[in-house]
Amino acid sequence: KRLILIGPPGSGKGTQSPIIKDEYCLCHLATGDMLRAAVAAKTPLGIKAKEAMDKGELVSDDLVVGIIDEAMKKPSCQKGFILDGFPRTVVQAQKLDEMLDKQGVKVDKVLNFAIDDAILEERITGRWIHPSSGRTYHTKFAPPKAPGVDDVTGEPLIQRKDDTAAVLKSRLDAFHKQTAPVIDYYSKKGVVANLHAEKPPKEVTVEVEKVLSQ
Ligand code: AP5
Ligand code: ZN
Repeated sequence: KRLILIGPPGSGKGTQSPIIKDEYCLCHLATGDMLRAAVAAKTPLGIKAKEAMDKGELVSDDLVVGIIDEAMKKPSCQKGFILDGFPRTVVQAQKLDEMLDKQGVKVDKVLNFAIDDAILEERITGRWIHPSSGRTYHTKFAPPKAPGVDDVTGEPLIQRKDDTAAVLKSRLDAFHKQTAPVIDYYSKKGVVANLHAEKPPKEVTVEVEKVLSQ
């Protein structure tokens, strides 16, 4: 399947992605994760992206379209994919359509993680991440077995630099202004499925599975 996950920061995209991936064996491309890896490695791309990311603003369309274009060439992405955090502007959505048109394929479903802004600050400020696996925890909603430590590897967990209440405000602003129109773009194509993203993670997974089995 060819899937897109859209939702505001903290809506649960990264939490549901690995579950979908394990079940459908797709390629999982998360532009935020790819950009953070580039920033950590201080690549030219990372150096260009860092300032916008730290402020909670979007990185330029050209940069993200470039990384997606490159990543989609992987053989594992030919039969299907999950895009988490892309497209995030209408321009990015149009570019993706151009890429897919060339292959004669289409997006099957856009999962819209619909949720009220008021819930997101607690989710974002309580998040802890295991960087190498992408496993995500939450101090209250999904605590690790031992505080600050990954359940599987025992390695330390980290917090994201942009996971503060102040930066969240800009990220939400970018979401409403630049990304909400992308949901309309796909609604017109009739491929959007709305999820109740405020429910507990397992219940959201059930909703996702229902949509994907259709
Ligand atoms: P990105 O990494 O994509 O961040 P984001 O969109 O802000 O989304 P998050 O990763 O914060 O949220 P999530 O939905 O994955 O939440 P999660 O599942 O972890 O982007 C970061 C930056 O990169 C952007 O600001 C921008 O600068 C740049 N960028 C990326 N893509 C770009 C693009 N295409 N164009 C331009 N710039 C781009 O959950 C959050 C927490 O809540 C966790 O602790 C989790 O355990 C908990 N949780 C999850 N689900 C539930 C639940 N159902 N109930 C209770 N708790 C839950
Ligand atoms: Zn994420």
